[in-house]
Amino acid sequence: MSVNKPLPHDAAPLHVTGKARYIDDIPTPANCVHLAFSLSERASGRVTVDLAEVRRAPGVLGVWEAKDLPSECDCSPSLGDEPLLSDGTVHYVGQPVFMVAATSHLLARKAVRKARMSYEASSAILSVDAAMEANTRFEEGPRTWEKGDAQAALAEAPMTIAGSIDMGGQEHFYLEGQAALVLPQEDGDLLVHSSTQHPTEIQHKVAHALHKPLHAVRVETRRMGGGFGGKESQGNALAIACAVVADALGRPAKMRYDRDDDMTITGKRHDFRIDYRAGFDKDGRLLAVDFVQYTRCGWAQDLSLAVADRAMLHADNAYDIPALRVESHRLKTNMQSATAYRGFGGPQGMLGIERVLDHVAHAVGRDPLEVRQVNYYADAAPLDGLDGGLSAPREPAAPPPEDISGQRKHGGEADLASRGAEGAAPVGRPVEAPAGAQVTHYGQPVEDFILGELTARLAADCDYAARREAVARWNAETPLLKRGLALTPVKFGISFTLTHLNQAGALVHVYQDGSIAMNHGGTEMGQGLFQKVAQVAASRFGVPQDRVRITATDTAKVPNTSATAASSGSDLNGMAVAAACDIIRERMAEHLAGLYQAEAAGVLFADGYVHVGEETLSFEEAAKLCYEGRVSLSSTGFYKTPKIEWDRIRGQGRPFYYFAYGAACTEVVLDTLTGEYRILRTDILHDAGASLNPAIDVGQIEGGYVQGAGWLTTEELVWDSEGRLRTHAPSTYKIPACSDRPEVFNVALWDGWNREETIYRSKAVGEPPFMLGISAFLALSDAVASCGEEYPALDAPATPERVLMAVRRVQDGL
Ligand code: MTE
Ligand code: MOS
Repeated sequence: MSVNKPLPHDAAPLHVTGKARYIDDIPTPANCVHLAFSLSERASGRVTVDLAEVRRAPGVLGVWEAKDLPSECDCSPSLGDEPLLSDGTVHYVGQPVFMVAATSHLLARKAVRKARMSYEASSAILSVDAAMEANTRFEEGPRTWEKGDAQAALAEAPMTIAGSIDMGGQEHFYLEGQAALVLPQEDGDLLVHSSTQHPTEIQHKVAHALHKPLHAVRVETRRMGGGFGGKESQGNALAIACAVVADALGRPAKMRYDRDDDMTITGKRHDFRIDYRAGFDKDGRLLAVDFVQYTRCGWAQDLSLAVADRAMLHADNAYDIPALRVESHRLKTNMQSATAYRGFGGPQGMLGIERVLDHVAHAVGRDPLEVRQVNYYADAAPLDGLDGGLSAPREPAAPPPEDISGQRKHGGEADLASRGAEGAAPVGRPVEAPAGAQVTHYGQPVEDFILGELTARLAADCDYAARREAVARWNAETPLLKRGLALTPVKFGISFTLTHLNQAGALVHVYQDGSIAMNHGGTEMGQGLFQKVAQVAASRFGVPQDRVRITATDTAKVPNTSATAASSGSDLNGMAVAAACDIIRERMAEHLAGLYQAEAAGVLFADGYVHVGEETLSFEEAAKLCYEGRVSLSSTGFYKTPKIEWDRIRGQGRPFYYFAYGAACTEVVLDTLTGEYRILRTDILHDAGASLNPAIDVGQIEGGYVQGAGWLTTEELVWDSEGRLRTHAPSTYKIPACSDRPEVFNVALWDGWNREETIYRSKAVGEPPFMLGISAFLALSDAVASCGEEYPALDAPATPERVLMAVRRVQDGL
């Protein structure tokens, strides 16, 4: 069985030898033209351009303003509010105004600088306060969801706190910048190579811009050098621009942003301000929380409504809060259009409630972990054989349904390899309530909660209690350096909240020599999706991994795909590929059973062989026999996620198929004279269900944690009073380096299976670990708190400067 094995990423040797092909590595045809945008230098107003010198510049083959385009060439993934080029009004510093095609990338970039731009600037809306005052937003008013009566409960609560936290946005900093290459084909067709998480949307946007049917545009994506959400929609402009030029000139066209342009033009994570009021008892048990979330969405809608919804959906995180109200303001501002970024609003909503827990613990003078545990949803009752509980039997008492769990139909080995939980002693709270009794503020029952036990196990494994005391002792004895410790949980909802996106298709071929080509709608961005799904295919046919060829994502092979996003790449595409494989396998089994007078149901595919009655054939022989028997060895497969339904206006339903869980404990040390700090140690226990590939999943957890910690510590976006992004290069924008990773970094996988019938009972893992980084932020807050009596009320990112100011505030008792 290929699944559950820690096999390396399929392209790892290519990555490390520089042989992996990205868009810019595709050999460019001799007559290829290169594109560059001219960017607005004002955040708001009108622009006019004098292009005479641009047209005369060396190498220039064409110049396009909005009026020269075949249509508005809308780039928006949602509202149709993003014309490719400015129509004369500008909305942010960095907005494309016109574009140039030239004989080289450099000449195109030089040419755009020769324009004479004149502006009639108008006042820009840059801050939350300015947007609230001007009432510029993407929905008529705020959206509000509520469970219970938060106002009434707050009024009656024995203790209350109020506060506010600012959290910054985040640059994606994918190593490969945005890029596209468009090759004109016969009869007006276009072949688009795009570094995108969403080939189907690129296809739609290009076809729409050029008034072509979808079948005339084929989009291929072999891989991205990172996406992180930044290539869900932000690649549209480059692909459309190249398509327009390729179509007009009949020549291939290519565009890539250099790093400064990429950071200046494209949208980032949404920054948030979250105001909160919380009511609780003397033990820190929450009675009511009222959140007001404000987010700057930038100039265009993009995916902001869904991002803001997900922030609301994660306002409870792991906590059963009797009365919870969330009000959300989606503000329109004159900045880059904020977009998807790992967690998609979830991290922001979750940081809001984690901040509340931290603040409440400070107010009642209890350990923050104890206060968290007091407020947790209750763990679900163990399900025989499917629970991660230490007492759970190794083999499932009730096996998962045949069609997803492996080859039971054909008598194959049990696919759900047991994943033992040797060693640890049972710890944690007893189960308090039967599953189903507890619901979130949006009405979804929390039926698969495991954080009670998971947290207890992590706390025991990382020696939380003893280290808490050691930190306190150390801080009492050490005047200038202070340590901090925090253990925080993650409960993250898995599924697209736009229900119809939860579908996937696949195309699988078995060739006469027994080799297999696999294609599906997901895209590879480094997260290891292709490898995981190839393991699924190999497992279905019982062949070694190297039999399965991974092929580039291609809208001509699998149509109508969703973005590879919401962490559901392997959930959706794994199932679609399994479905396609199973169709072929059934056909093979039936034919071979006929040949050897055996039962089709007894045909077994395992270890590279096919066992038919008394006969044993190699998979190659079996494929050849089936071919000669005129059996179709090619199939599509399709999957749609069951059980989900969601009304986003009312904020009620079951938006998520299931939740992914995890917890992290981080210890930091900071210098109270400079505000500088280091992460000393991080321990993580994360739930990837029955992991399809533990090596890749651990990589996702490590990377997610570090990226999440980067968001909340050193990664600071600064716009000046004119709306210019001043941090548009690595010189001024500090992502974590290798040397910033925790000195001690222990990552373990939870040993339970997904209770829902996902592919081999695995869980999505792409985004959830990002939010484990919250523990680094709250560990810093804890260290600052040791400097005095006041609650530090640290904002994010906690740059050394902010930490220093917080230390001063706490020391001075302000
Ligand atoms: N890991 C790497 N190495 N590179 C990426 O760009 N993107 C993240 C996550 N992990 C990303 C990554 C994001 S935002 C998502 S939604 C998921 O991967 C998408 O892939 P999946 O659905 O296959 O997990
Ligand atoms: Mo991930 S933000 O859903 O691309």
